[in-house]
Amino acid sequence: MSASAAGVVSRTNGKSRIDSGYRMSVSEPLTDGHGRRIEDLRVSVTDRCNFRCQYCMPAEGLPWLERAEILSFDEIERLVALFARMGVHAVRLTGGEPLVRRDFPRLLRMLAAIEELQDLAITTNGFRLERDAAALVAAAGSSQRPGGGVRFNVSVDSLQRDRFYALTRRDALDQVMRGLACLAQYPQAHPIKVNAVALRGFTEDEVPAFVELARHSAYEVRFIEFMPLDADRAWTSDQVLTGAELHAMVDALHPLEPLEREPSATARVYRFSDGRGRIGFISSVSEPFCADCNRIRLTADGRLRTCLFSLNETDLRGPLREGADDHELERLVRDAVWRKELKHQIGEPGFIQPARTMSAIGG
Ligand code: 5AD
Ligand code: SF4
Repeated sequence: MSASAAGVVSRTNGKSRIDSGYRMSVSEPLTDGHGRRIEDLRVSVTDRCNFRCQYCMPAEGLPWLERAEILSFDEIERLVALFARMGVHAVRLTGGEPLVRRDFPRLLRMLAAIEELQDLAITTNGFRLERDAAALVAAAGSSQRPGGGVRFNVSVDSLQRDRFYALTRRDALDQVMRGLACLAQYPQAHPIKVNAVALRGFTEDEVPAFVELARHSAYEVRFIEFMPLDADRAWTSDQVLTGAELHAMVDALHPLEPLEREPSATARVYRFSDGRGRIGFISSVSEPFCADCNRIRLTADGRLRTCLFSLNETDLRGPLREGADDHELERLVRDAVWRKELKHQIGEPGFIQPARTMSAIGG
């Protein structure tokens, strides 16, 4: 028996704690069959959304999950705590649109109390940030976590009102920009990222305005290549405006210098040579970063997905509701993670688009 299993004191975040045998059994890092350590969990808290972005959802929406199918806050907390004990230290809450889930700040407060979590983040379309920014920042700050912050990625695909409307099918650009401004008041919420999905024939015209935003605001702008996760299944490779093309356009306006890439980061981040602002490129399609992917995903209905493009998923909700103990859940998780896909196969002959759209997976 190891020292830890015998119940010795370990240190986490500078605090002493007696390890139980159980903690010992889950302290093994969560690793896949390709040697990648899994440290980042994306949790979709709802499949619903108040936008209808063209590249994600049809105008009429999608058949939403029933309430009973969605994990409760207690169920999410239990699973996140389990993952955290296996070495997942970063959790991102997504949707659909996470801020449409009723009482969402309460969930954030519950998760912020999980001491192993170092990094809490939210991906949102920003529509309800004006209403919720203060509550979210307060909820995240209620814990002892170092920094007590929560980081935000806010999706903004156009900085022109009519084009924003055309793309999201909501006339909401002003509302989103006001939400961003509210958030920016809180130092704990920085750095704030603004994410734009890059679409050929659309985003080219947006580049100068996004460059200005990146240079003259506190936001870090990032372009994300369009991926085949749209409900309409209309994705074709020629609609992907690549990170390299965007980089060239931006660099021609204002020269860029690369910043060092953080391990497992999705974005290649640059600073403007004159020191004003940063901009990033997430080239998931043209330059996949699968080799050091450390991410897994939990859907709103409690399925574990080991890749955005997984064709299989592992049900955790069923066992959870049937009374599985943490050991059983841990075994299910480890088995699923062990089989994590080596890489996505977009652009290869055998590629199959998963049945779930981005809104039902969690970005
Ligand atoms: N390709 C790339 N990004 C997408 N998103 C949604 N659908 C797609 C897609 N098909 C983005 C959203 C948001 C995040 C959750 O994922 O714009 O930034
Ligand atoms: Fe909603 Fe995000 Fe999908 Fe747009 S991309 S419809 S904001 S879930």
